[in-house]
Amino acid sequence: MSVHHSTPKKITTHTLLEMKQSGQKISMLTAYDYSMARIVDEAGIDVILVGDSASNVMAGHQTTLPITLDQMIYHASSVVRAVERSLVVVDMPFGSYQGNSKEALSSAIKIMKESGGHAVKMEGGSEILESIQRILTAGIPVMGHLGLTPQSIYKFGTYVVRAKEEQEAERLIADAKALEKVGCFAIVLEKIPAALAQKVAQMVQIPVIGIGAGGGVDGQVLVIHDMLGINNEFNPRFLRKYNNLHAQMLQAFETYKADVQSGDFPNDSESY
Ligand code: KIV
Repeated sequence: MSVHHSTPKKITTHTLLEMKQSGQKISMLTAYDYSMARIVDEAGIDVILVGDSASNVMAGHQTTLPITLDQMIYHASSVVRAVERSLVVVDMPFGSYQGNSKEALSSAIKIMKESGGHAVKMEGGSEILESIQRILTAGIPVMGHLGLTPQSIYKFGTYVVRAKEEQEAERLIADAKALEKVGCFAIVLEKIPAALAQKVAQMVQIPVIGIGAGGGVDGQVLVIHDMLGINNEFNPRFLRKYNNLHAQMLQAFETYKADVQSGDFPNDSESY
C-alpha cells in the first residue's frame, strides 16, 4: 500500500486577500533559520516574516539598524529552504531602500534572487512611495509597515505607542490609503491604539496585520523569540508568551552540565 503525502496548498498574497474577504484571521510569525521555520511552517502559520528583528534577537544588537542586506539574505534563504506552505516575507534592511528608488529596486531584486523569498516588507509611508512603486513594477509584492517603525528609532527616540495624537493618526491613515493605492498587498501596523488600527483595517481592502495594535485587524504577528519566552527581559503589554523557553532551556543546559561533570552522561546505552 502506498502512502500519499499531499503537498499543502501554498499561501500567496491572493490567499491573504481572500482570507480578509472571508473574515479568516491571518497568522504571522518571524523566523530567521531553517529549523525554526520548519516548525512554524508545519504548524500552518500563514506568513513567515524574516524580520530585521534578527538584528536584535539573532545578533544581539540594540536596534534593527546594523543588519545588512547580505545578512538578511542569509537568514531568508535558510527560512525559504524550510518552507512548504507559508508565504515568506523578507524585511528590507535599513539603508537598502531609503536612498533612492533605483537602489531600492536593486536591493529588492537581490533579496528575491538570492534568498528565494516571496515578498518584501518596507517601513514607511508617503516618503518611500516612489521606491515601493518601482519595486512593484518589477513584479515583487510589497508589504507596508506603519506606526512604530523600528528603523526610525533615532527619530522617535523611544519605543512607546505611536499615533496617539490626532495629527499623527491622520498621517497614518493617509499613509495606509497611499500604500493600498500604490499596490501593497498588506500592511503591518505596529504599536498603535487598537481603535485606530481597526479603523485602518476597515478602511482599506488589503489585509492589515497588527503587532501591539489590538484585535480589530485582519491578522497578528509576533517575534518568535518573544512569544516563546526565550528572552525573559522583554515583557511589553502586547506580548502573549506561549511558552517559557528561557526557563526550560536553562534547566536543560544546567542538567546537561551536571550530568557531564558527574560522569552520568554518556552512559553505556549512549556509547558505541
Ligand atoms: O522585524 C520584525 O520582526 C518586524 C515585526 C515586528 C513586524 O518588523
